[in-house]
Amino acid sequence: MAADPTRADKFSFGLWTVGWPARDPFGDATRPPLDPVESVHRLSELGAYGVTFHDDDVIPFGSDDASRAEHIARFRKALDETGIVVPMVTTNLFTHPVFKDGGFTSNDRDVRRFALRKVMRNMELAAELGAQTYVMWGGREGSEYDLAKDVQAALDRYREGVDFLAQYSIDRGFGLRFALEPKPNEPRGDILLPTVGHAIAFISSLEHADLVGLNPEVGHEQMAGLNYAHGIAQALWHGKLFHLDLNGQRGIKYDQDLVFGHGDLMNAFALVDLIEHGAPGGGPAYDGPRHFDYKPSRTEDAGGVWDSAAANMRMYLLLKERAQAFRADPEVQEALAASKVGELSQPTLGTGESYTDLLADRASYEDFDADAAGAKGFGFVRLNQLAVEHLLGARG
Ligand code: GCO
Ligand code: MN
Ligand code: MN
Repeated sequence: MAADPTRADKFSFGLWTVGWPARDPFGDATRPPLDPVESVHRLSELGAYGVTFHDDDVIPFGSDDASRAEHIARFRKALDETGIVVPMVTTNLFTHPVFKDGGFTSNDRDVRRFALRKVMRNMELAAELGAQTYVMWGGREGSEYDLAKDVQAALDRYREGVDFLAQYSIDRGFGLRFALEPKPNEPRGDILLPTVGHAIAFISSLEHADLVGLNPEVGHEQMAGLNYAHGIAQALWHGKLFHLDLNGQRGIKYDQDLVFGHGDLMNAFALVDLIEHGAPGGGPAYDGPRHFDYKPSRTEDAGGVWDSAAANMRMYLLLKERAQAFRADPEVQEALAASKVGELSQPTLGTGESYTDLLADRASYEDFDADAAGAKGFGFVRLNQLAVEHLLGARG
C-alpha cells in the first residue's frame, strides 16, 4: 500500500533521533546507547534512504585521530552495506561544557575559534561522504540575561562565522550549502535567530547569502506559536528551503520532538500538501530529503524506537495520499474556485498598467460596490471542512 516507504520517498533520520537514550533534565536515560551502525541497518530495513549526524554522533568528542578513523570506517562500512546515503551533516556545538555560552557567538573568543575549527573538521568529512547540505543549529547561541549578551556584536560574530565557513567550502570545493535552523528557546532562555523570519533577514546580510538557506523544524516554529506551513511557504518563496526537520509539537511549551503528525495534524496535512503540490502547476515544491528530527518518547523501549521511526514515514505517506485525494476531488476543486484561491495568483495590476491607468479605472473605485463585495462570503470554512474530511478518510 501507499504507506510503505521506499527509497524514492527520500526519508532520512538524524542518528541522534533513534539514538536518543532518553535522558532529560529530570531523569536518567531509559534506553541503552545505540550503535550508529545498528541504526543505519535498522533505518535501511524500515525504508529510509538517508541518515544525518552531528560529528559527535559518529565520533565521540575528544577521540584521537586513530580512533576517529576507526569510527568513520565502521560507519562507512554500514553505509556501503546498506546503500544508505548521507544528504546532510551538522556539528554538535552544544553538548560539551565549553559551548555553554555558544559556539560562534560565545563571549569567549577562544571558544569561538575552537567552534570554527570543529565545524571545519567535520565539513571535510561531510563532503567526503557526499553530503550536499550542512546544517547549523545554534542551540547555545543566545542568553538568559539580556545585559550579559551584546546581541548586535553576537550577530556580527554569527555572520563572521557563517561567511568564513562558506568561503572555506568554496575554496576547498566541498560544494556544501548551509542551512540555518531557527529555534526560539531551549536550551538557552532566548536563542539568536529564533524564527524562520529572523533567519531569512540575517541571511540577506551575508556575503555568501546565495549559499545559505534554512532548515526549519516543525516544533520550533510551533513553540513560538507560529504556523509552520506558512514559514515553509515563505522560505520557499525566498528560494531558501534547503532542508527541513519534520516532527510533532503540541502548542507552546518545551521542544517535544514528537512523531511527525502527532502534534498539529491539520498543519501537518497542509504542510505535506504544500511540499507535494505547492509548485506552480501543482507539482512538488521541494524535492530534498524528507528528514525527521524527532525523539522516541522517554516511555519507549527499543521496540518503541523502531515503531516510532516507522510511524514518521507512515504518517508522511498517509498525509501525502490524503492530500492527493483532496486535490483530485471535484468538489474540492469547485470549493477552491468558489473561495478564489487560484485568483490570488493573478497580478493585481494588468500587464503594463500604470497608476494613471488604475486611477482612470472607475470600476476599481468610483463604481466599485464595497458593501456588496463586503457582504459576500469566501466559503473558507466549507473548504476546510472538505480538507478535514479527506484527512479523516471520510471522502474517497
Ligand atoms: C533540537 C534541534 C536539533 C537540531 C540538530 C541539528 O533538538 O532542538 O532540532 O535536533 O536539529 O542538533 O543540528
Ligand atoms: Mn526540536
Ligand atoms: Mn532540528
